[in-house]
Amino acid sequence: MIDLNGVTPFAEGGNRRCFVHPNNPNRCLKVIHSGLLQTIMKNKPWYKKLRSAESFDDNLRERDAYNQKALRNDNSETWKHLAKWYGMVETTIGAASETELIKNENLVAETLESYLFANGFTDEIKLSIEQFHDWLRKNLILTKNLIPHNLVLKRVNNDIIIKIVDGLGSQAFIPLPDYSNFFAKRYVERRIELMMSRIRWDLSGRVGNWK
Ligand SMILES: Nc1ncnc2c1ncn2[C@@H]1O[C@H](COP(=O)(O)OP(=O)(O)OP(=O)(O)O)[C@@H](O)[C@H]1O
Ligand SMILES: [Mg+2]
Repeated sequence: MIDLNGVTPFAEGGNRRCFVHPNNPNRCLKVIHSGLLQTIMKNKPWYKKLRSAESFDDNLRERDAYNQKALRNDNSETWKHLAKWYGMVETTIGAASETELIKNENLVAETLESYLFANGFTDEIKLSIEQFHDWLRKNLILTKNLIPHNLVLKRVNNDIIIKIVDGLGSQAFIPLPDYSNFFAKRYVERRIELMMSRIRWDLSGRVGNWK
């Protein structure tokens, strides 16, 4: 069992705390905030309570997302824009999902959101975003909405490679295992459109509704 007692997370989101793996500086461990699942269940309307607590667990939904049709191969091109997934592990503060920690030299990679706030919509980031969209279209990778704080930037030579660290999968109602390519194309196109509208919204001071 991995001991995370007293370890400080390097980041946290609304759902999970993220730790550097104590035995491997290139792996990330994500643990759901304690009490979160109970709180979610308590506040759901009665008809949603019929769904199990598991269906709201981001770590378990992520595991299913990594099993999607498009990712059932070892082709490095398919994985180019994804943090790798190493499964679930037990820690002293609860179950964790273990993934590749994206870094540049020895620092945890910055998010697209922090890059955009610091530098704006530069030519280099525009190019990275275009390459990322080409990859989504070519491989038909299903994601939830692509929000800049869930994408991090890996620098390789002079390129910036966008990596998804959160949000793989699909909006809850879509059956992941057996989608058609026709459906996936439309779905991916809509995620790209919404990603751009989210970026415009972030850059314009977040006025109104981003969708
Ligand atoms: N594999 C990783 N490599 C580098 N940084 C990461 C990685 N995973 C997460 N992070 C950082 O930690 C932050 C929080 O992680 P994550 O988005 O997985 O948490 P979450 O609680 O599921 O998020 P949300 O609030 O979007 O539900 C990310 O925004 C990112 O900055
Ligand atoms: Mg997140």
